[in-house]
Amino acid sequence: MISIAIDGPSGAGKSTLARSVAAKLGYLYVDTGAIYRTIAYHTYESGIDPKDEDRVLAALPGLDIRLTHGPEGLQHMLLNGRDVTKDIRLPEVSLRASAVSAYPGVRAFLLEMQRQLARSNNVIMDGRDIGTVVLPDADVKIFLTASAEARARRRMAELEQRGTPQPFETILREIEERDYNDSHRAAAPLKQAEDAVLLDTTALDFRQSEEALLAIIRERIKL
Ligand code: DC
Repeated sequence: MISIAIDGPSGAGKSTLARSVAAKLGYLYVDTGAIYRTIAYHTYESGIDPKDEDRVLAALPGLDIRLTHGPEGLQHMLLNGRDVTKDIRLPEVSLRASAVSAYPGVRAFLLEMQRQLARSNNVIMDGRDIGTVVLPDADVKIFLTASAEARARRRMAELEQRGTPQPFETILREIEERDYNDSHRAAAPLKQAEDAVLLDTTALDFRQSEEALLAIIRERIKL
């Protein structure tokens, strides 16, 4: 099985690019952020303070988290049998996901599930610690990034399109807060793996980013 690991900060375009490249290569796309978001969503709907590590960890054994793929490779998240794919994108869930993902107990709970997916499929998996922790032996590792301003601009366009616009400053602040949380936590912080290729998409549009990504992959594996 072939594994391609894509890590990087939020809003760098990982999921859009990874999904598109996975469809081109016929690989399974795995969005690991969505799995952390599913736990965060559970804390949101059941009124658990995400800062209360003990309560968050106590809730885990009661959670049945599954990942399925629909037509066009779209990933769906199931929480105790319920499709929460849309709910986990609520803005209230993003910062909660960053908070709960800092707990080693949460990361350990999800580790085997992610590795199992890579054992049984050719995968493109995106997240924060895929190349460093989840799949240290991945065939290709890419660290995908862009300036915080570029990421905030893209996110602003996305939110406008979705009909839920937000001011640029608010979006930028949230991106910077998540960057800080994700890269300063003790457990599996966001960092570039030593053997990862850096791809900075600040000055690239989608098509150019996709070409650059495919070129890196083609250089390392025979397609
Ligand atoms: O990629 P995303 O924005 O949907 O991820 C949501 C949060 O989950 C993000 O703040 C960091 C965390 N996360 C993580 O810690 N490790 C991963 N492999 C993926 C996401």
